[in-house]
Amino acid sequence: LPERAANWEEELLTQGLSRRALRVGVAYAGPGSGNDIQRSGTPPIAFTGGIPDPITLPIEELAAASETVLRREGALALEYGGAQGFAGLRDWLAGHWTPIDRTPLTGANFSLTVGSAHALENVCETLLDEDDLVLVESPSFPGSIRAIRSMGCRVEAVYVDQDGLNVDAFEERLRAAEREGRRVKLLYTIPNYHNPTGTTLSLERRHRLLDLCERHNVLIIEDDAYGEIGFEAALPQSLYSLAAGRGVVKIGTFSKTIATGLRTGWIQAAPALINATLATRFDMGLSPFLLRTIAEYASGGRFEAHVEDICALYRRKRGIMLDGLRERCSQLASWQEPQGGFFLWLELADAVDYARLRLYAEEEGVAFGGGPGFFAAGDAGNGAIEPSRFVRLAFSYTAEAEITEGVRRLARALERAAQSE
Ligand SMILES: Cc1ncc(COP(=O)(O)O)c(C=O)c1O
Repeated sequence: LPERAANWEEELLTQGLSRRALRVGVAYAGPGSGNDIQRSGTPPIAFTGGIPDPITLPIEELAAASETVLRREGALALEYGGAQGFAGLRDWLAGHWTPIDRTPLTGANFSLTVGSAHALENVCETLLDEDDLVLVESPSFPGSIRAIRSMGCRVEAVYVDQDGLNVDAFEERLRAAEREGRRVKLLYTIPNYHNPTGTTLSLERRHRLLDLCERHNVLIIEDDAYGEIGFEAALPQSLYSLAAGRGVVKIGTFSKTIATGLRTGWIQAAPALINATLATRFDMGLSPFLLRTIAEYASGGRFEAHVEDICALYRRKRGIMLDGLRERCSQLASWQEPQGGFFLWLELADAVDYARLRLYAEEEGVAFGGGPGFFAAGDAGNGAIEPSRFVRLAFSYTAEAEITEGVRRLARALERAAQSE
């Protein structure tokens, strides 16, 4: 047998990685990964991460809840709790979502995961084989696209317009696949306050999409990361709700409503499907202490009151950003007002040179999510979409008092990037 080489580490990383690791390449470091927010030096005003405003983090309430749990439940909080996760929190989720999704749900319809990122990975591991065909949106949240790609399946994109996923284009893709003798196994979609475009899939499109998926036997993963952060009229019913759970798996998270650092999300699906996902979990479940703390915190209407408060804050922040954009950027960019969520998606005027915009934004001290990062799945076959014509601005994280100044800096960068040399 050949001995381990002196440069074993280099050899392992160049020749010893799994096919799955090779497929995904280096770790995701784009907007929202946490790497993009400078924490020392002179930080730019960051419109990058889709994360909550630090002032909303319920630190005192979580401290009180964790103390209550430890003193009241002691050992139960500190022993293994099973892969599906603390029943009390799953029951709370069932109680919370039953009226919203107008579908009778119980704790058996949920399993608790390390954020919705893990929920997606767990569902994909359970359902996808190499060479399966999966449709995703373009643009989309790149972390999700990487996770889906890591399964070795074929990923094709369908574009998103002002009303969400373009269902005509989706239907065309289905038919094109069928002409090739292939079946689309799964669709991954973010119908509510989409990341990055901020759009919401219209009710009419939801019905058509469900009808197509029913007829062509396509399973839907409905990523509802932002659905609770609404500013205006109620959302259309969820896909899960309209289909009464048939053929739809919904994934959710406490990351956007409570805190990303809880790393707690969930899968919502038919109990048999939940059981199948549990069979492909090898992590022994989330921390019972954490899950019991969240359940204690969320109970008694505290979660709902908190969500009401944060929606009021994010609505205000969206308004401040829109006011600044209207005042200073309307000649060089256009946008659609998001009805909820964390993001504004700017389409740049032709005059703006993208590479120079990035450079000048850095000089001016403002950061945003560059459009190309969100097109990991390609441009979706719509020639009208050029990734470098877009930037994503998150209004969620930046302090209210800094948004106007951030937009001012962005406006200066846009003006400089539009001036011909
Ligand atoms: C659409 C969407 N899905 C999933 C996630 C993953 O979030 P988490 O794993 O924290 O729930 C994000 C995070 O930005 C997101 O924007």
